[in-house]
Amino acid sequence: MQVAIDGPASAGKSTVAKIVAKNLNFIYIDTGAMYRACTLIAQKGNVDYGDEAEILKLLAKNKIEFKNGEKEQKVFINGQDVSLAIRTPEITANVSQVSALPGIREKMVELQRKMAGENNVIMDGRDIGTTVLPNADVKIFLIASVASRAKRRFLDFKEKGIHQDLAEIEHDIEERDYKDSHRKISPLKKATDAIELDTTNLTIDEVVAKITTLIEKKQKKQSKE
Ligand code: CDP
Ligand code: CDP
Repeated sequence: MQVAIDGPASAGKSTVAKIVAKNLNFIYIDTGAMYRACTLIAQKGNVDYGDEAEILKLLAKNKIEFKNGEKEQKVFINGQDVSLAIRTPEITANVSQVSALPGIREKMVELQRKMAGENNVIMDGRDIGTTVLPNADVKIFLIASVASRAKRRFLDFKEKGIHQDLAEIEHDIEERDYKDSHRKISPLKKATDAIELDTTNLTIDEVVAKITTLIEKKQKKQSKE
């Protein structure tokens, strides 16, 4: 079973996907973390974020691994846990540039399809329903207003002891949404057969319940076929 969850930054994709995966015993795959890891590798290697050839060379030399821990997926580069390092404002501000590079996307999509072929998965990102898993059994497109998404991220950071200005977060979200939706390859777009869910006024539990119902309905239908 393949479940695709796409949508703009901070719509709640990863939070909800993690819980649903745990409840249904699926593997959760955070594809955004993959593009973030590529961006961190470029930063550490002092390579320009638009230099596809050099980033690809670095990717060949560095080993990126994803491990599913008790609470979340952890990301490692050459055995070092970079789960926090991939979420700094510097990486967040530059990930859209790296993720727009065709060669990088090709490599990541290949990896994502391989992971999805081996397990029951819930994968979240921007192009899962449109490009990575076009035949996914359930496709969800999560949206929420920019103001509510910025506020959520602000509170999320605050809880982790990080202070970032609310207006700055809102600006980053708008800018990233624009870049992700306007790039040439696999832009952020709702798949024609995806179900759109506006989470602006929904709690995490409500979103989890709605998605779980959709998956269970599909499972029942498939078991009858
Ligand atoms: O969690 P947040 O919404 O901040 O973003 P993310 O899911 O970690 O994704 C970070 C960035 O990676 C996005 O802004 C996109 O530029 C890129 N991305 C992508 O291009 N395709 C995906 N399937 C997932 C992420
Ligand atoms: O993965 P994505 O960037 O779409 O968003 P996220 O990192 O899962 O969610 C961003 C923040 O919004 C987290 O702190 C969630 O706890 C929060 N959230 C919420 O308050 N209400 C929801 N319905 C969904 C997420």
